[in-house]
Amino acid sequence: MPAITASAPGKAILFGEHAVVYHRPAIAVPVTQVKARASVFAQIQAPAGQVWLDAPDIHLSAVLDEVDPAQPLAILVREVQRELALERFPALKITIRSDIPLAAGLGSGAAVSVAAIRALSAFVGHPLPDETVSRIAYRVEQVHHGTPSGIDNTVITYAQPIWFLRGAPFELLKVAQPFTLVIADSGITSPTVAAVQDVRRHHELDPLKYDAIFDAIASVVNRARTCIEQGQIHDLGPLMDENHCLLKRLDVSCGALDHLVDTAHSAGALGAKLIGGGRGGNMIALVHAVDARLVAEALLRAGAVRTLITEVTPHQTQGGAC
Ligand code: MEV
Repeated sequence: MPAITASAPGKAILFGEHAVVYHRPAIAVPVTQVKARASVFAQIQAPAGQVWLDAPDIHLSAVLDEVDPAQPLAILVREVQRELALERFPALKITIRSDIPLAAGLGSGAAVSVAAIRALSAFVGHPLPDETVSRIAYRVEQVHHGTPSGIDNTVITYAQPIWFLRGAPFELLKVAQPFTLVIADSGITSPTVAAVQDVRRHHELDPLKYDAIFDAIASVVNRARTCIEQGQIHDLGPLMDENHCLLKRLDVSCGALDHLVDTAHSAGALGAKLIGGGRGGNMIALVHAVDARLVAEALLRAGAVRTLITEVTPHQTQGGAC
């Protein structure tokens, strides 16, 4: 059988991370400038049922049966096998490559899952529908951080701007006017699981205080939705700033992210905030398209290790690396 390859984009949460875990709404967009790719190759010489996992980015190269069963890729292969009611896979090797930085708020784990689920199911002749791909990716996310909201697997599977509320059907977001974002990586890796667990601990200790912050974030998200749907892009900037302040109150920002947010403002951004789990990883800045390169350069000078420029458009995101 020839190789089958599938890919999935990264993502950025425009508004509402962390609060979304607590059933508040959030808005996310795909980031197509970075991708995870999964390729499946037939292994004609190998014993039937042998699945070789090959993920050079995380230094994994081993037969499935010899890998820790809690390893996310191992869970994923078994979930796909169960979903397809396969007694066993034909002997195969699955190779994963990704240029989405790990533990940086851009959805690397979910993107790897979505690409791998698609490649494996297509390889055996039963490509799974998006709903099932997203559901399996969610189960794998649960291994990464226990209580995921489901926003990462959803936006990455559907690769469209979405409005997301945990437990409710997600909605594709109507984007009335395109807008430009600069994404900058602080270079600090920060697993989402740790930040989510800390917020949970704080919420348990002081539910009134933290529910009030989550409600304030929900209010920002609702106003942002109206702006996006009505094309009031200038009004989105101050909402990003408000969201960032609320994330600081959740204690999920850090000096490096705050510095990049301040730098983006000084360089002419309309607003800026951290994205994803926080404590490191990436931030985004809303910019006039003509200023994007200048803001990206200022962020690099201020210590960002990488920047991306992306445009959120009515149907999909487009752009290029800087
Ligand atoms: C992670 O990309 C976003 C968080 O809100 C966690 C989640 O939604 O599962 C921090």
